[in-house]
This record gives sequence, structure tokens and C-alpha cells, in this order.
Amino acid sequence: MTQNQGTVAWTQHDLIGLEILRPLLSAGPYLPWSSGAMRASGLVSICNEIVLGQRRRIVELGSGTSTVLLARLLREQDRGGTLDAVEHHAGWADRVNEMLAAEDLSSFARVTMAPLAPHLHGVDGLPWYEEGALDAVLEGPPVEVLIVDGPPAFEPGDALARYPALPVCLPRLAPDAVVVLDDVIRAGEAEIVERWEALSAYRFDRRADEGIAFGRVPAAA
Ligand SMILES: C[S@@+](CC[C@H](N)C(=O)[O-])C[C@H]1O[C@@H](n2cnc3c(N)ncnc32)[C@H](O)[C@@H]1O
Repeated sequence: MTQNQGTVAWTQHDLIGLEILRPLLSAGPYLPWSSGAMRASGLVSICNEIVLGQRRRIVELGSGTSTVLLARLLREQDRGGTLDAVEHHAGWADRVNEMLAAEDLSSFARVTMAPLAPHLHGVDGLPWYEEGALDAVLEGPPVEVLIVDGPPAFEPGDALARYPALPVCLPRLAPDAVVVLDDVIRAGEAEIVERWEALSAYRFDRRADEGIAFGRVPAAA
């Protein structure tokens, strides 16, 4: 069985990333950046995509510090961009929504609670976000950036917990949407990328230095 083990130490790429993110970090109160949060280097790639690609419709599975930082970026960009985050843990969803509200960021990002439940696409019976709650988030314009950083997948047996994200969200993605999977240096996420490439036209750049896999559908040759 595929297992996800160990924590990932930050590297020089992340220290540079923190420097690049400094304007966003300084744009509000202190944010608790725990080991569960995305690495700074990976977050820089997502910010670059939002700014350079003029992305406006972002969905994030698994909320936290990244949600607040991206909301600060969307406010700064002021192009009508919004972030919908999905969170399985009710207390954490409330906490992140409170952080957003405290900074007047609720019109740029919100967290929707979606409990984990048995799911058609769950690997070996692993649960995923309850369908009704997710459907509501995916309604509306096609998603331009999909960030997959949940559900948690570090417990033994949970390594493939994030697999359903692409099969579920694929019909709701814009043709040029990017899909970002965090923690790709873990065995489970590496296997998920292989499976996603087998089931879709998405091709992923595995960026070990940033801890993410960055996917898009290649332009026709
Ligand atoms: C990998 S984390 C997602 C982190 C988020 N995308 C970020 O980069 O900040 C996955 C889950 O861990 C939980 N989580 C993240 N940060 C947490 C914290 N500081 N305290 C409690 N739970 C946390 C949430 O339930 C979240 O959905």
C-alpha cells in the first residue's frame, strides 16, 4: 500500500519564496504558518499564475494560510477574482472564515465546509468531500485554477485521499485551467499524478523544489 511519510524541510527556494511573498505577508496581521501549510515556493508559483494568467476563478481544496494570502493577492489585483476554498473540518473552516472577515477579505475568498463522506471516486473506500457541498462550490463560471491541498493524506492508509479531485472537478474546469497538487514529493501524491495523467489530457510538471505538481492541458501541436 502506498504510504505518505515524514515532513518536508523547507529549502532555500522557500526562503526566496518568503521574500517574494513579503508584500502579501505584510498586507495583514500575522498568519500561523504551520507544517500543514503549503511551502512558500509552491505558493509563489500559484500567485504567479493568478497574476500573469489574469486568473479570476480559483478553487482550493484544503484551507488555511494559503487561503488568506491568496485572498490578499486577489484584493490587491482588484480584477474581480475570487477564491472558493473547501474545508472538511468545521472548526477550521470557521477559523479561516474569521481570519478572512477580520481583514475584510470575505468578498474575495470564503471557506465552505464539506464533511468527508464515502465517495464514488474514493480509492479503496477512502472518503472525500461530500458531493452536495462541493457541487455548490463548483457551480458558476468554469474554474481557472484548482489547488488540491486536502483532504489530509498523512495518516497511514490515506495516501491516495486526494485522488477524486480531478475526476470530480474535470467537467467544471476551463479549457486552459491549471491544476496544482501539493505535497507531490510524497509517494501518494506522486501516484495520484500518474493516475490523473492516465485518465485525462492533463500533463504535470513535478516541481520537487516547490513541493507541487503543476498541470495543464498542453496546447495542440
Ligand atoms: C494541507 S492542509 C491545507 C493547508 C492550506 N492549503 C494552506 O496551505 O495553508 C490540509 C488540512 O489541514 C488542516 N489544517 C491546516 N492548517 C491547520 C492549522 N493550522 N490548524 C489546524 N488544522 C489545520 C485543515 O483541515 C486543512 O484542510
